[in-house]
Amino acid sequence: MQKYDYKALYQRSMDDPVHFWAVQAEKYIAWYQPFKTVLTGDFEHLNVEWFSGGKLNACYNALDRHLPTRSNQTAFLWEGDHPDQSLKLTYAELYNEVCRFANVLKKFRVKKGDRVCIYMPMVPEAIIAMLACARIGAVHSVVFGGFSPESLRNRILDAECKLVITANEGLRGNKIIPLKKNVDEALTECPSVESVIVIKRTQNSVPWDDKKNHWYHDEMQTVSADCPCEEMDANDPIFILYTSGSTGKPKGILHVTAGYLVYVTMTFNYVFDYQPQDIFWCTADVGWITGHSYVVYGPLCNGATSVIFEGVPNYPDFSRYWNIIDKYGVTIFYTSPTAIRALRREGDEYVTRTARKSLRILGTVGEPINPDVWQWYYDVVGDGRCQIVDTWWQTETGGIMITPLPFQTPLKAGSASWPFFGVKPEIIDTHLVITKPWPGMMKTIYGDEKRFADYFKKYPGTYFTGDNATCDDEGYYWITGRNDDVLKISGHRIGTGELENAFLENHHVAEAAVVGVPHDIKGETIYAFVTLQGNVKPSDELKKELIQTVRHAIGAIATPDYIQWAESLPKTRSGKIMRRVLRKIANNDLKDLGDISTLADPSVVEKLIKDREGIADAHI
Ligand code: WTA
Repeated sequence: MQKYDYKALYQRSMDDPVHFWAVQAEKYIAWYQPFKTVLTGDFEHLNVEWFSGGKLNACYNALDRHLPTRSNQTAFLWEGDHPDQSLKLTYAELYNEVCRFANVLKKFRVKKGDRVCIYMPMVPEAIIAMLACARIGAVHSVVFGGFSPESLRNRILDAECKLVITANEGLRGNKIIPLKKNVDEALTECPSVESVIVIKRTQNSVPWDDKKNHWYHDEMQTVSADCPCEEMDANDPIFILYTSGSTGKPKGILHVTAGYLVYVTMTFNYVFDYQPQDIFWCTADVGWITGHSYVVYGPLCNGATSVIFEGVPNYPDFSRYWNIIDKYGVTIFYTSPTAIRALRREGDEYVTRTARKSLRILGTVGEPINPDVWQWYYDVVGDGRCQIVDTWWQTETGGIMITPLPFQTPLKAGSASWPFFGVKPEIIDTHLVITKPWPGMMKTIYGDEKRFADYFKKYPGTYFTGDNATCDDEGYYWITGRNDDVLKISGHRIGTGELENAFLENHHVAEAAVVGVPHDIKGETIYAFVTLQGNVKPSDELKKELIQTVRHAIGAIATPDYIQWAESLPKTRSGKIMRRVLRKIANNDLKDLGDISTLADPSVVEKLIKDREGIADAHI
C-alpha cells in the first residue's frame, strides 16, 4: 500500500500546479531534453500547452528505459480466445519485436507525423504496432475491430492514413471476425493507403493483392532489430482516437506526447495503487481509450506486468474472467459495469467456484455503476476484501479524472468520488465541467478546430464534459449520465446523429430519430423512431433489414433494440425534431411532456404515444 495523504497532496496540486506537475513529469518520465515551461495558455484562448521545450519518446518510456532492470520481467501475459492459447512476452522480447516492426514501418516509408491505422484483434501485435509507431514518431489511429468497413473507411479517410495494419481474421468467443475482408472493403475508396500489413491470426486464407498486401511475419524477417527512437517534442501528436459526439461524424481526438504520458503514468500508479509484484489486468480492447491508457501506455511506463485477453467473458463459459484471474494471479482487475452486470445475471456460482484469492483492487470504467451492481462486485467478486475504484474519465481527458484512491478514499457504492490530483471539477446547472487544464487533456480534434472549440463554449473558460453529475457535502461526485445526444451502449460511446445517418442509408427510410432507453445489461440501448418513404409498408422484415443497415454502417455494437414506426416526427415550426419529447415517449415517461406548444403539429405526439403501447418493452 502506498503511503500519502490524499487531501494534502490534492491541495498542493491546486495551490501550485506548476510546481506539482513539474515534480511529477520528472518523476514519471525520462526526457531527452528537459521542458522549459510546465504550463502555458488557458481555456479562454484554447492554447494550453504542457511541458513545452521538452523532448521525449513514448516508446522509450514504455520499453527502453526498463531494459537495464527488467529485461527478463514479463510485460504481457497474453490469453487467447481459447483457454489453451497463451503467450508470455518479456520486456526484452517486446522491445525486440517493437524495434523490428518500427523498421518494417520505415521500410514502407512511414515517417514522423504520418498516420497509421491499426485494425486488429487483441493480440500482442496490436500493441507492438502502436509502440512501433510511437518509436518512429508516426501517429497511430487504432480502430476497434468490431467497427464495420464503412466506419473504418471514414476514420482512415479523415486521418489520411498511409498504411493499415490488420489481421487475416480475428477470433472472439470462437467466432471469426473477417478483419482483412473488412479492410479490403474499406479501402475501395481510400486513396491515401499505400499498403496493408497483415498478421496471420488464423490458418484460413483470405483474398490477397500482391502489390498492396504484405504478411507481417515475412516482413519481420527482412529487418534488423536496431531502431533508435525519434526524439519528439512534448506537444507532437502521439495518437488519434475516434470517438462519437452528439452530431455528425466521429471526432478524431488528438493527444500529444508529454502531457498524455505523464498523466497516464501517474494515474496508473495511484489509482491502482500499483506495486512491483502486481499482476494487472484491464479487460478493455486497445480500440478504446481505456486500452490505450491502461493496457498500453500506463502499465508499460510503470514497468508493470499485465494480462491481455483476446476473448469474451462468456466463452467457454461465464467463469472465464475469474479463471483467468486465478490462472495468472491477477491482483488488480479493471473492467466495465456492463461486463459485471452480464456476469452477475448468470448467478454467483460461476464466480464462487473460482478462488480469486490474488485480487486486491477492482476497478470499473465507462458508464455509471448502480449501487447494487457495485455491491455485488464488492461482495461476490472481491469477497468483501478488495478496494473498488469507480473511475470517471473520457477519451478527451486521456486518463482517469474522478476516482477513489485505494485505501485513501472511504468508498461509497455508485460514486466516482473525488477528483484526481490537479483536476478541478465543478457542477454548473447539473453539468459537470472541469475548470483547470490537466496534462492528459486532448490537444485538439484532428482537422477540426471548431469542434474542439465547442467544448469550451457553453461555459467559457471551462471544459464541458457532456455529463451530468451531483456533488454531495463530502465532495463526492455522482455521475448520472450524458446530457447531450451521446449514448453509452454497453459502455461504447455512440452518437444519436451517427445512428440516424445510418438508418438513412436504407432507401426505405425517410427520416429517423434515435434516443436512449435504459437496458438491464447494456446500461442504455437504442430506441429509434423511423418514418418510412411514402410508398413503403412497415413490416417486421423491414425492421430486421434496418437492424442490418445500422450494423453494416457502424458495427454490431450499434444494434438497435427498439424500432417504432412513426408516420411523422414531432417538429418545431422551424423543422427541428423535438428529441426531448421522443425521449419521454420512448421511456414511457408521459407524466410531463414539457412545453409542446411550439410543435408544428401537436397531434403527432398523441399518435406516437398510442403506437408506443404496441411495442412496450418487447425486445426485437
Ligand atoms: C461515461 C471512457 C459514469 C461518461 C473512458 C463519459 C462514466 C463517457 C464513467 C466517456 C464512470 C466513463 N461513471 N460514467 N465511472 N466513466 N463514463 O470517451 O458519460 O468512451 O463522458 O471514455 O463515459 O466515454 P469514453
